[in-house]
Amino acid sequence: MGPIGVFDSGLGGLTVLRALLRRLPAEDFVYFGDTARVPYGTKGARTVREFARQDAAFLQGLGVKMIVVACNTAAAFALETLQAQFPLPVLGVIEPGVSAALARTRGGRIGVIGTSGTIRSGRYQEALAAAVGAPRVVARECPLLVPLAEEGLTNHPLTEMAIAHYLLPLRQAGVDTLILGCTHYPLLKPAISRFMEPETVLVDSAEELAESAARRLGELGLQRPASAAAAPASRLEFWLSDVPWQFAEIGARFLGRPIEAARQVNLDEVEQAGRLVRHGRERA
Ligand code: DGL
Repeated sequence: MGPIGVFDSGLGGLTVLRALLRRLPAEDFVYFGDTARVPYGTKGARTVREFARQDAAFLQGLGVKMIVVACNTAAAFALETLQAQFPLPVLGVIEPGVSAALARTRGGRIGVIGTSGTIRSGRYQEALAAAVGAPRVVARECPLLVPLAEEGLTNHPLTEMAIAHYLLPLRQAGVDTLILGCTHYPLLKPAISRFMEPETVLVDSAEELAESAARRLGELGLQRPASAAAAPASRLEFWLSDVPWQFAEIGARFLGRPIEAARQVNLDEVEQAGRLVRHGRERA
């Protein structure tokens, strides 16, 4: 009955934690943000896979009962590897986002936006194309949107310009459903909504993931018991591999509430946790 472990390349995954807290208020959570090595979205598959393994191993060492990969890029490159390597349920954001988009599309085209890594991995496109056919899927990498969201420029002309630049081809292609395939994009939802046609449905993968985490906990009988749920506050713990300058401000914006305290862990500890998992598997 440990906490649920949630990790991301940095602070963006706090939007996923926010959705998880809303959906599972009685659960305990431990969040790890790899702020020393963010961004993952510009890095190659091997690097991201290795970082993700270390992040998950660090959380496993803290005694979590489930691991949520709250980073689209890490989920795109590493989800299956993590599921094979860890003896815990490991959930990612891609599959829930794809299912929600397929359930909501009205037969038009489906768009997906994300980091360069997420889009170049082709994971969203493959899953969507298998259901609706490749010509009905339009994908676009939007690298500038992550820093704009972090800077808090959610309703700024710079962001409006970047959104227009990236999303025009999707609007022109007539997408009726758009997957926000990056942890930072929920903050840009109003600006994205204003740019797209009014009837375009935006799929927030954070909310969809929270739904599937709740389902999975139920199926596995891993929910925190009702007596524990009646206890005053669930435990919320934050670990970071670096504390960025604007941590408190950005963190609160992403999580939707202030973060009381965050602990810092040295990268060599995170790397060491990853090595232990690898060696453990080699011995097994
Ligand atoms: N968390 C990443 C994602 O959802 C965005 C930030 C990054 O590039 O690391 O893909």
